[in-house]
Amino acid sequence: MTHASKLFPAEQGRFLKTLRGEHADATPIWLMRQAGRYMPEYRALRERYTMLESIHSPELSAEITMQPIEAFDLDAAIIFSDILPPLSGMGLELDFIKGVGPRLANPVRSRADIDALRTPSMTEVMEGTLGAIRLVRKELDTRGIPLIGFSGAPFTLASYAMEGGGSKSYVHAKSLMYSDPEAWDVLMSKLVTVVSDYLSAQAAAGAQALQLFDSWAGALGRLDYERYVQPYTRQVLASALATGVPVIHFSTGTGAYLESIAAAGRTAVGVDFHVPLDEAWARIGTDRVIMGNLDPVRLHAPWEVLRRGADDVLARAGGRRGHIFNVGHGILPDTPVDNVRRLVDYVHEATSR
Ligand code: CP3
Repeated sequence: MTHASKLFPAEQGRFLKTLRGEHADATPIWLMRQAGRYMPEYRALRERYTMLESIHSPELSAEITMQPIEAFDLDAAIIFSDILPPLSGMGLELDFIKGVGPRLANPVRSRADIDALRTPSMTEVMEGTLGAIRLVRKELDTRGIPLIGFSGAPFTLASYAMEGGGSKSYVHAKSLMYSDPEAWDVLMSKLVTVVSDYLSAQAAAGAQALQLFDSWAGALGRLDYERYVQPYTRQVLASALATGVPVIHFSTGTGAYLESIAAAGRTAVGVDFHVPLDEAWARIGTDRVIMGNLDPVRLHAPWEVLRRGADDVLARAGGRRGHIFNVGHGILPDTPVDNVRRLVDYVHEATSR
């Protein structure tokens, strides 16, 4: 463990200062999927417990959340969970299948299925994650490191609920959206209720920032995004911002309509690696906080290649305040641990001011 003990509260740390638009002593960095299979500590723990056990146990979830914090000088922790467990509270049977990924055994396919979806209190359904947030805050507070809570966005969750797992065409979700807008509205409105409730509950439990993942929003054209998705995302973001906690709106494959993503709410915007950071920043407005956007596969390359990638992102950020360094999508299972350590330290060294 190399990081110096922090003598200031997390509110005065680089990550939250940057999210508030204030000057920070260096560019903050955290990595999407920073807790995961690339870490031997994570693999060892997951040999003993399933994904669902790890998510629903406050102690295990807290321990996994802390693994990358112990190992690297990261500027924020993200609570260990997944975007899909809230769907099980709505009536979907969720499992994580080794080597395959998440699966929902009874996907939503009809209006009757949609009407049958429940919208229970997330305080009960996600009790384990909320308990983990409380536990982890105690540990992080002594180090001055803030905790990020998160949820899937209505569109990404609706797609999972209808496809039952990963998809290339999103044929079920998009067909319903086009052919039965009224049923789509019922489905998306239920998800707005659940996601808004879940994000508020995480803020109340101690999350100091909230991230909304709309990982599948890129499946749509701009006009369809604006018509069928943005109104619901707007409601969720407004309710998340009303908690008083800063919010990051992340999506992938949305380079064709970043302006519409940014227009969904006055949040920080997480961008993937398809659009160069300076171009993305100009499009969302340089008054907005931006998070991104190194291609995570760069972490598999030799250090010099990785460093050039980091330099490029930093050069495009131009030393302006309001940049949070991150990968443009989650880091992959076989990422070399040493490259993660070097990247985190390098971003701090290169931007120290
Ligand atoms: O970032 C973090 O470290 C926090 C934890 C976190 C996980 N999933 C843990 C996880 C977060 C924030 C997520 C979000 C998530 N989950 C998203 C949105 C972000 C994105 O990647 O686009 C999505 C689409 C999911 C759904 C999901 N969960 C998939 C597609 C998979 C399978 C892919 C894979 O890597 O296995 C998961 C499983 C999952 N979620 C793992 C982890 C650590 C791997 C589980 C294992 O150990 O086998």
